[in-house]
Amino acid sequence: MEVRTRKIKAEDYQIRGGRMKKCKKNRKNVKKITLANQLSLKKLLSLSSNSENNSQIMKKECVLVCGGAGYIGSHTTVELINAGYDVVVVDNFSNSDISAVENVRKITGAEIPCIEADCCDMEAFRKVFEKYDFNSAIHFAASKAVGESVQKPMMYYRNNLTSLMNLIDLMREFGRQNIVFSSSCTVYGEPDKQPVTELTPRKPATSPYGNTKQISEDFLRDSVAAYEGLKSIALRYFNPIGAHPSALIGELPRGVPQNLVPYVTQTAAGIRECLSIFGDDYNTPDGSCIRDYIDVTDLAKAHVAAINRMVEGKSEERYEVFNVGTGRGVSVLELVNKFQEVNNVKLNYKIAPRRAGDIIAIWADPTRANTVLGWKAERTIEETLASAWAWEKHLRGIK
Ligand code: UFG
Repeated sequence: MEVRTRKIKAEDYQIRGGRMKKCKKNRKNVKKITLANQLSLKKLLSLSSNSENNSQIMKKECVLVCGGAGYIGSHTTVELINAGYDVVVVDNFSNSDISAVENVRKITGAEIPCIEADCCDMEAFRKVFEKYDFNSAIHFAASKAVGESVQKPMMYYRNNLTSLMNLIDLMREFGRQNIVFSSSCTVYGEPDKQPVTELTPRKPATSPYGNTKQISEDFLRDSVAAYEGLKSIALRYFNPIGAHPSALIGELPRGVPQNLVPYVTQTAAGIRECLSIFGDDYNTPDGSCIRDYIDVTDLAKAHVAAINRMVEGKSEERYEVFNVGTGRGVSVLELVNKFQEVNNVKLNYKIAPRRAGDIIAIWADPTRANTVLGWKAERTIEETLASAWAWEKHLRGIK
């Protein structure tokens, strides 16, 4: 129920729809607030003599990023700000750290209101809607590890579904319009054919995590059909990896990493003794699972494209889905070898039993995102694996 506003921002005045709007004051931040006001004023003054920019700021708006301190949320916040949006972050820091928001602020130079609240806590979440004037929200506030979800299914159902239901209810209650949803290729289950398109049938999910993503998509599809004011885009991510080119933000899992690349980088850094490769006896060319690894900054840009599409009224349907992947399938063993090659490091690894809930192979046909959304993955897997290692080295102070 508690809502805490982190003192890393200045928000007593903000530009909304081209006008300055007074918000609550935070006395401890007087200096920052004064600076922010000056910046806002400057922005307004310079815009008044430039009608093209003026129409741009009228078009741009504020986006609520639920889970904005997390891995994909923090990278998306950077790209939204780069694209000219204002951002408000809400996060419960269950699997993230405030330092990510501070570093986003360093990268962008923007003042970012960051509210510590749990999106599953309706009263706390409502206060965010009462305080901030945004018309679009992105839902990242969910747990995301396939293996963990098999061990703790109720945690996944409660967290992932409640936070989204609350968001949908509040968007309606406050007359806000656009929701981008962080979906996943796990909604396809174990596909019969590769690569998967958005028309590939969703088969039964292989894990509670995957099931929460299928159910969440259904919540959105049905809500948009029932409530005229809502629009939504579900982005079905393939496997996000890597870090921001600045190495100031990246994946920061709490405790033992559940996902492959943070386990790889922590093993290379000597924090984990040995990487386990879960299964080398699958029906794939080298026996290990195949995924479509997508650079996190590329993925972040897909969110900007989705927000732009809704804000600019370009959606063809009020609920749309897009695959966000590269179109390239890479096995776990190939990825591990590439990481060693690109970064010139030796990785201690062993073959371990299969992990429950794993899909054997999946990669994207990203044609719809490329042509309709106007988004395309740009970074190579080599660049991405180098960025993942640069981030781990930065974190651990390794030269
Ligand atoms: N793997 C290992 N060893 C590890 C961790 C993972 O061999 O220590 C293997 C897995 O078995 C799998 C592959 O590496 O074959 C990728 O596993 P991840 O846990 O990194 O990723 P998943 O494919 O299970 O799921 C991830 C995210 C989800 C996301 C999904 C696709 O966890 O949030 O990609 O979008 F939804």
